[in-house]
Amino acid sequence: MLNIAHRGFKGAYPENTMLAYEKAVEIGADGIEFDVHLTKDGELVIIHDESLDRTTDGKGLVKDKTLHELKKLNASKGSLTSEVQTIPTLREYFDFAKNKDIITNIELKTSIITYEGIEKKVYDLIKEYDMKDKIIISSFNHNSLIRMKEIDREIKCGVLESSRLYKPWEYVKNLGMEYFHPLNFTINKEIAEKFSENNIGLNIWFGISDYDFGECLEFNPTGLITDFPDRIKEIIAKKI
Ligand code: G3P
Ligand code: MG
Repeated sequence: MLNIAHRGFKGAYPENTMLAYEKAVEIGADGIEFDVHLTKDGELVIIHDESLDRTTDGKGLVKDKTLHELKKLNASKGSLTSEVQTIPTLREYFDFAKNKDIITNIELKTSIITYEGIEKKVYDLIKEYDMKDKIIISSFNHNSLIRMKEIDREIKCGVLESSRLYKPWEYVKNLGMEYFHPLNFTINKEIAEKFSENNIGLNIWFGISDYDFGECLEFNPTGLITDFPDRIKEIIAKKI
């Protein structure tokens, strides 16, 4: 079962910063999840929100700023313990991850803003770094996943969902995707078994930090995406 760190080691470090990724790897996470947007000048950057206001000392939308402008901001806003962190580019992350034994879940944040061509840009960088085998692309915008598959059928994709779909295993199978990434509350043992029967991976993500992660183990998911890779590591170790 993969222990995937949500926005890096978000439970203890500023989300979606290189520090949070480094700490996730240090603690023994198997993978890292993060969110990608495009800047005004077409650069791929990692940040959760479309807006800069919550996690940085900047204001406005990522899409309205150049990379040069974004790099002046502190992305560890509100953190009492962490020094200044910059908004990472996807290239910086790949430099960090390339020779590490971790998988990377790249979430394309294309539900609110249409970032023209983001799928091809992400794909081209994956190819440049030769990382295809260690990547899962996910998105709440399933059209983005279809676009990714049109670029390369072999790239692994995960259908992100927070709603309770009717027969979600059929939906994911019909789309031709390898993984389902549901919000934890929407999954039960029966649904999990259907995914297993259909050879579709199940990586469950958690929206609430203090959830009892252990409850999900009986579903035998392929992975858990949480803010606490340290706790998940212990839970998995106890199970084995
Ligand atoms: O990919 C799982 C999770 O990251 C989806 O929600 O809002 O944290 O990006 P969010
Ligand atoms: Mg995400």
